[in-house]
Amino acid sequence: MSDTASHRPVEGRFEGKVALLTGAASGIGRATAVRLAAEGAAILALDVDADGLGALVEELAATGATVVGRRGSITERDECFAAVAQCIEELGGLDVLGNIAGISRADHFAEVSETDYRRMFAVNVDGPFFLCQAALPHLQERRGNIVNIASNAGLMGTAYTVAYSMTKGAIVQLTKSLAMETAKTKVRVNAIAPGGIVSSLTGGFHIPEGVDLDLMQPYMGFRGMGAPEEIAGLFAFVASDDGRNMHGSILSSDLGLTAS
Ligand SMILES: NC(=O)c1ccc[n+]([C@@H]2O[C@H](COP(=O)([O-])OP(=O)(O)OC[C@H]3O[C@@H](n4cnc5c(N)ncnc54)[C@H](O)[C@@H]3O)[C@@H](O)[C@H]2O)c1
Repeated sequence: MSDTASHRPVEGRFEGKVALLTGAASGIGRATAVRLAAEGAAILALDVDADGLGALVEELAATGATVVGRRGSITERDECFAAVAQCIEELGGLDVLGNIAGISRADHFAEVSETDYRRMFAVNVDGPFFLCQAALPHLQERRGNIVNIASNAGLMGTAYTVAYSMTKGAIVQLTKSLAMETAKTKVRVNAIAPGGIVSSLTGGFHIPEGVDLDLMQPYMGFRGMGAPEEIAGLFAFVASDDGRNMHGSILSSDLGLTAS
């Protein structure tokens, strides 16, 4: 991790705040948990990956941070509500919901299986939807906010990842429409749309046989990949009071992928 300004925690910015972060066992979610904890937040980390959660909890607890790890799948509505309830009970409230967990895969459109299609929507769309539902009344009480992780894929056409792009387009609309519905309240709802970020999601990305690489070039870009800490730094800004002017914003951090 390079020591750029966006990677440097702002001391005390989240003191007294509680954040529920999904996907916190890996990649962008993990970096965000580390960042918000370093800025004083108590964290409820929700993920299906028990080992990754265990490692995160150990690392954060060693710094003196307050962190609760919860193993559960956001594909289940009941789990979404139970995670929010645990956050209120054990950490005393909720100030920030970070919908970060997500899955991706590439296939020729005709070969997307029904199982993969439904799984993609269950994780990437159902989870954020039901977590927003569960969290909103609690966020209203504390003028809290939601940060959803969308993608450049939600803002442009992407060959061979049609289902994934559809789910991220849904996150863009979840963000904008919920921002409209909460417009007269103090809650804020925003999204970050990262481009390529080094993580286990991209590390495990399998390119199907027989693809036309020219069609993938627009979402490969010209400047390589970013680090999870870049997104964590932007997340911290948006979710803190520094981001109070943002509501319904879709913030690209993608090394120019969506410039054209
Ligand atoms: N890495 C990129 O290039 C990139 C680009 C744009 C957007 N994104 C988005 O950023 C988010 C984080 O991705 P990442 O790159 O850090 O990936 P990652 O694979 O490193 O982390 C994703 C985490 O989500 C968890 N998860 C998966 N299914 C879950 C479920 N059902 N319930 C709870 N947790 C679950 C995984 O266990 C993992 O810890 C995703 O929403 C992804 O779509 C990533």
